[in-house]
This record gives sequence, structure tokens and C-alpha cells, in this order.
Amino acid sequence: MQEELEQVGRQALEEISRAKNDSELEEARIHFLGRKGKITLLLRSLGSLSVQDRPAIGRLANQVKAKVEKALVERRQALGSQVQEAAPSLDITLPGRRRWIGRLHPLTQVTQEIVEIFTALGFQVARGPEVETEYYNFEALNFPKDHPARDMQDTYYLADDVVLRTHTSPVQIRVMESQRPPIRVVMPGRVYRNEEINPRSFTVFYQIEGLYVDRHVTFGDLKGVLAAFVERFFGPKTPLRFRPSFFPFTEPSAEVDIACIICGGKGCRLCKYKGWLEILGAGMVDPAVFTYVNYDPEEVSGYAFGMGVDRIAMLRHGIDDIRLFYENDLRFLQQF
Ligand code: DAH
Repeated sequence: MQEELEQVGRQALEEISRAKNDSELEEARIHFLGRKGKITLLLRSLGSLSVQDRPAIGRLANQVKAKVEKALVERRQALGSQVQEAAPSLDITLPGRRRWIGRLHPLTQVTQEIVEIFTALGFQVARGPEVETEYYNFEALNFPKDHPARDMQDTYYLADDVVLRTHTSPVQIRVMESQRPPIRVVMPGRVYRNEEINPRSFTVFYQIEGLYVDRHVTFGDLKGVLAAFVERFFGPKTPLRFRPSFFPFTEPSAEVDIACIICGGKGCRLCKYKGWLEILGAGMVDPAVFTYVNYDPEEVSGYAFGMGVDRIAMLRHGIDDIRLFYENDLRFLQQF
């Protein structure tokens, strides 16, 4: 009986280890532990043993049964993990699928940031058309008929008297035509020039125009608002200076520089060893402009300014080629 038990146990273990899948394993289980299985039958026959032999043989029978049950469980697990390994549906070593998240173009971001600084100072936002008449783009801004900027070289003419606006200044005229002072407005937008394309200039770019008209507006007000802007955009204690300049629509006119944000004024490649970077043009609205919009220059005064968004964005992010903004290369855009 003892020998028979041991032999059946060995057979069972062998059959279990040979099982190649779940159904073969189930067959083996039935073969040995089923209702009429070999081990089951042997256990049942223990009753016919003598009282002497029963305890020892009974213990052995239980050990064999336990061993076989354990082998069944282990084999089932082994087969299960093999099935998983073979399954092609899930490869946990593959990198996850990336979700592409959209974002604002760097020029839009910088435009929004600048506009927010001015709206916090009480300015409204206005926009004008990109296709403009010569009247708004030049004449009402006091450009003489023979001014070089009107030249075909710099301006895209769509028809005799229709142009792609070369700056956002014409929006000043449209705003003044439709509103009465006091006026505080910033005017962002796209402008066009027939320029040579190179790292510093492109045929399309962005500007933000500013206009303030009221009684008793002074150059001091202009300096104050631009100083506040520079401090908020470029950081506190950024030195700035006003240089005399000329624009047909402002008198007096100035250009505003900030201390080079790379070298702080010592001189480097970015500032061309001047220590200063030009960021905008500005001035007091020329009385001649007021007469085009039927404002009385004796009653009101104002200041205006205009800045290039691309240039400011290039300074902020250390970008040395304006064309990158217009190529829409995701490797570039994803950095902002
Ligand atoms: N429109 C000028 C340009 O495109 C920039 C400018 C200068 C705008 C002075 C202004 C200003 O409003 O007062 O170069």
C-alpha cells in the first residue's frame, strides 16, 4: 500500500508537470483527485487497513495528496503567466502615448502680457483693419505725400490707394474718429512691410500701439507710463532712456532704450557694444494729427507710442532670428 501510494504520487507529479495548458492540467487533476481519481480511491481504501497500519499509511496518503494539490496550483500559475507573456496586446515596456497639449504662440503670449500691463493702468484695447487706405496709414498721420515710407519699396500696395498697413498707428486715427477724449487705448496687431528677409527683419510682424488723449497731457505723463511698463515687463530697476527722434505724427518724438538685458550696459554682442537696446518709439501727438480728426489742439493734448512685439519677444527669450516665429516648427514652439 505504501509503495503504491508513492508510485501514484510520482505519476501525478509527472503528469502535472507535463500539462501544456489548462485543459491538460484539469485532466490530470481528475485523473488523480477526481471522484474516481487514483489518489481518491486509495484514500477511500484506507478503511480496509488494519488498525496498526492505518495511522502511518493515512499520514503518508495525506502528504501525497497535499503535494499533488500544491503541484496543481503551481502549474496553473506557471501556465497563466506564460499566457500573459505571449499575449501581444499589452507591452508594458512601451513608452506611454503622449498627449499633445496646445499652447499660445510666443508672440501671442508676449502681446497678451504687454496688453495686460496697460489695461491694469487703465487702457482699453482696440483693433483696426490690416488692409488700410493710404489716408489712415499715412495721410492722417501727417506723412507728407513724398515721404520715403510711402514708397513702393517699403509698402505693399493692393490698389492705388489701398495698402497692407505698415504700422498700427492708423488705428489711432480710427479710434479718435469714433470717440471723444479722454482716450486711453492700446492697439495690438499685425503689420506688413516690403523688407529684405533676414534674421532681424521679416515682411510680417506685430506691433502694439498706445494712445492717450486728454486735457493737459504732458511728456512727463508719457515718461511715467513707459517707465511703469518697463519696470513691470523687464523687471524693477531696469534703466531706460529717451533719445530724441522723429516721427511725422508726434512732436516732439523720442525713441526709448533699456539697458541691455544681457550685459546690463557694459556692452556685448546683443546690444552691439552700445549697452542699450531700443524697444519703442513715442512722442506727443502732433497737433496736425488732431486737426485730421477734428480735435482742437488748443484744448487737448496727448501722447502715443508704438513697439515691436517680435523684437521684445526676441529680447525676452534670447531668440536671434525673427523668422523662427513664422515657420511654425513645433520643436521651436513647444519651448514656450
Ligand atoms: N509707427 C511707428 C513705426 O512703425 C512706431 C511709433 C513711433 C508709433 C512713435 C507711435 C509713436 O505711436 O508715437 O515705426
